[in-house]
Amino acid sequence: MLCPLLALALSLAGAMEIQVPEEPVVALFGRDATLRCSFSPEANFSLDDLSLIWQLTDTKRLVHSFSGGRDQLADQGGGYANRTALFYDQLAQGNVSLLLRRVEIADEGSFTCFVRVRDYSSAAVTLQVAAPYSKPNLNLEPNKDLKPGDLAAVTCHASRGYPEASVLWQDSQGTNITENITTSQVANEEGLFDVHSVLQVLVEPSSTYSCLVRNPVLQQETHASVTITGQHLAFPAVALWVTVGLAICVVVLLIVLAYICQKKIRESCEEEENAGTEEQDEDGEEPKTALQPLKSTEDKADNEQEID
Ligand SMILES: *[C@@H]1O[C@H](CO)[C@@H](O)[C@H](O)[C@H]1NC(C)=O
Ligand SMILES: *[C@@H]1O[C@H](CO)[C@@H](O)[C@H](O)[C@H]1NC(C)=O
Ligand SMILES: *[C@@H]1O[C@H](CO)[C@@H](O)[C@H](O)[C@H]1NC(C)=O
Ligand SMILES: *[C@@H]1O[C@H](CO)[C@@H](O)[C@H](O)[C@H]1NC(C)=O
Ligand SMILES: *[C@@H]1O[C@H](CO)[C@@H](O)[C@H](O)[C@H]1NC(C)=O
Repeated sequence: MLCPLLALALSLAGAMEIQVPEEPVVALFGRDATLRCSFSPEANFSLDDLSLIWQLTDTKRLVHSFSGGRDQLADQGGGYANRTALFYDQLAQGNVSLLLRRVEIADEGSFTCFVRVRDYSSAAVTLQVAAPYSKPNLNLEPNKDLKPGDLAAVTCHASRGYPEASVLWQDSQGTNITENITTSQVANEEGLFDVHSVLQVLVEPSSTYSCLVRNPVLQQETHASVTITGQHLAFPAVALWVTVGLAICVVVLLIVLAYICQKKIRESCEEEENAGTEEQDEDGEEPKTALQPLKSTEDKADNEQEID
């Protein structure tokens, strides 16, 4: 293992050394990127002696070249026209970095920096393109007339990001939701992704759903949340309970009234009993009928107990 490496090192001893970043260079979509590459020139180095070629590592397509003291762009690959430049004031110091303007998704990949003065050498730089995702839009579908227990879809949409996002859904406690999620990421003509994620939920009032969209390269996270509130819920769901509540109130009121009436009538009956006897039967009918339902329910309860 060591011997071949040693042999390689000895054979390259006369060759020049060039420096490039080891880590991929992250460039924002649409912005300018600098692909760094440099060497240490000898004291008597002249720019006329320099031949520099920047090319795509895979396809050898020419990105930029410089020789004879000036740019040589006749064979430059389409798509790089007017987008490349060198730092001309620093060439004499051996700085042959490439400026790539208005970075596109298609620029992502490996670039080779090839330098020749008397010796030659080359090294590759990896360009990673990234674009932050927009803050997500959340939509609840259907948006109204929901009843608790209905199936609803919460749709999360974030756009123009790169590379593909990781999408996470959380409830109000911040717990990950992993079920019933469908996520799709579609690239537009520029290569940027639009993310659509749909969460299917059974409606519960005042529950919150958050959609977190994360760009893995930029470590960027953007999120939005939606809470199912009364305005989403159907009128009947609320009206039903209001109606039931009112009905109970009315029934209670009626029972109280009946009780009071009965008491009043009994009192008046007692008074009338003292006064005369004729009207007593007629008036006496009413409290009996008013009591009838109560009695019958009591009977029912008795029956049920017997059955048990
Ligand atoms: C530059 O200097 C090196 C030694 O440092 C020498 O070998 C080379 O011939 C010189 N080149 C020129 C053009 O003078
Ligand atoms: C590059 O710039 C020149 C001059 O500014 C212009 O004529 C040419 O159309 C441009 N090329 C591209 C591909 O934009
Ligand atoms: C070369 O120039 C670029 C642009 O000015 C700069 O970012 C980079 O640090 C320079 N590299 C060296 C080795 O000086
Ligand atoms: C949710 O999932 C993400 C990614 O899988 C993880 O990093 C995070 O710790 C999880 N959070 C909780 C509260 O489980
Ligand atoms: C997923 O959806 C099904 C119905 O499609 C439902 O029964 C289930 O409760 C849902 N799961 C969660 C975690 O919401």
